[in-house]
Amino acid sequence: MAEVNKLDKIVLYLMPERIQKQRLRDIKAASRRRKFKIVDTFCAGVTHVVTECDSLEQVLKFLLLDDVDQLHGVQVLSMTWLTACLKNGRPVEIEESQRIRQKQLEGLETDTDTAGSIAAPNTWACQRITCLQHHNPKLTTALEVLEKHAQLRDGNSDYSRALAFRKASCVLKSLPHTLTDIHQLRGLKDIGNHSAQVIEDILEEGFSNEVEEILNDPWFIKMKLFSSVFGVGSAIALKWIERGWEKIEDAQNSNDITSDWRVQWGLAFHDDLTSPVLRQEADNLLEVIREEATKLLPGVIVEIVGGFRRGKMSGHDADFLLTHPDEGSEIGLLPQLLQRLQKRGFLLAGQAEKNSFTPGVLKKDFKLSMKGQLDHFEKWIGIMKLPKSFKDKHTDPSSIIMPTPGSDPIDGSLDYQPSRKKAKCGISGLSPWELSRTERAWCARRVDLIISPFSQYYYGLVGWTGSKHFNRDLRTYSQKVLNMKVTSHGLFDFTKNQSIPAHSEKEVFDILKLPYHEPWQRNC
Ligand code: CTP
Ligand code: MN
Ligand code: MN
Repeated sequence: MAEVNKLDKIVLYLMPERIQKQRLRDIKAASRRRKFKIVDTFCAGVTHVVTECDSLEQVLKFLLLDDVDQLHGVQVLSMTWLTACLKNGRPVEIEESQRIRQKQLEGLETDTDTAGSIAAPNTWACQRITCLQHHNPKLTTALEVLEKHAQLRDGNSDYSRALAFRKASCVLKSLPHTLTDIHQLRGLKDIGNHSAQVIEDILEEGFSNEVEEILNDPWFIKMKLFSSVFGVGSAIALKWIERGWEKIEDAQNSNDITSDWRVQWGLAFHDDLTSPVLRQEADNLLEVIREEATKLLPGVIVEIVGGFRRGKMSGHDADFLLTHPDEGSEIGLLPQLLQRLQKRGFLLAGQAEKNSFTPGVLKKDFKLSMKGQLDHFEKWIGIMKLPKSFKDKHTDPSSIIMPTPGSDPIDGSLDYQPSRKKAKCGISGLSPWELSRTERAWCARRVDLIISPFSQYYYGLVGWTGSKHFNRDLRTYSQKVLNMKVTSHGLFDFTKNQSIPAHSEKEVFDILKLPYHEPWQRNC
């Protein structure tokens, strides 16, 4: 790992061993005053370990690691480095004498510390750092197959089995090393028996029979395929299987298909919509949306949220959150923005939803489904036409007008929900299917546009940044630990019987008594 000297790139873990408790607290407090980021457990994302131990062997032992390689280049430094940093008010160059080294010949001291509890990640995923890149992809991929299987089998009514697998994979993602032995999981929360068995199988045999069987199960393969269609959940996928359908074409060729606009467009543009949306496309679209929204409402804030904000390079859609510091000025923006995007030929199909927020919903028990939390923001859920050129380069957004722009907004409204398969598309008079077969310079992409009043914006930003599991964990943690309800609209403190506003994303974390983690550290 390249040496990082920039304050914002440093994530410190102070080992508690061999330090008097009060001194540890003082050093942590001083570091935080100097804006150093400190985490309370050794987890993925840590760049510097600071310790009073004098050999690397001791450090490894306390961190429950077998080998130096498992540190993956994390700097292990003596306390003298950190005190020098604090004195200077910024990170200082590392001196060679400050590096903790191996003392092979001395052997390990016998230590009576309860090593088992030391590396245990905190109980809550929202307290841990979880990056996209981690050390246990083989295990987490397997657990996510089981999660997906449980999700498809149990549907939305019961996601407890799916959740158990997600929790386990999430713990593995936050481990600072590659798991090599099941015993390294000792003391770690959230690893259920079923997950532990699968992990053990993979560690011992190199694979899990159960996972292999699922991956080869025709039912699972079809369920996954059908539920990849926009608008199709496990219930519809199941129906299609019961009809004996095997391929997407079977649904595409059927005359007796649902009237749901999402499924119609989802089927017609299945190839486009299942090829990943690239970061470059989302960035280019952001500029278009920002340009048009700013013309309508100067000072508007447009932010990419969802997976792209968490650092992903591709995703299943692009999510945008819009607000304006002058509360109320955002009202009416969405229909006008859609009209402009329509004029420029960007809209293919979609549905707008009105804002349904009332202060009462802050206290209400929202259900968080496997799909995510349902919120009350005004929004547009739809499919846009992005020029293929958006994929590979930065495109001057103002130059982009699609080749076949519609001159009128569809039906005067901006919803397009054909009631029959052969319904004509408002732009070209073609059905979704016919349109998808034409020679075209654009790709169909799923897009979510969300409008938030400014007073709810920072909660909305956290909620729409995700990940889904991060949100779910945040809500459970808030409820169980703090007696607070947090949603994308705000936070209600039941102990004080009042809602608490936040003026930044950091403040949301402060109110929830959580260490602030950047979006890219919320990939659980
Ligand atoms: N979300 C939400 N309410 C919804 C839908 C989504 O709060 N009705 C949240 C999700 O919990 C997630 C974020 O908004 O954190 C984005 O949702 P989604 O696009 O489904 O997931 P991504 O994390 O962006 O994944 P991908 O990259 O595949 O799009
Ligand atoms: Mn997304
Ligand atoms: Mn989305």
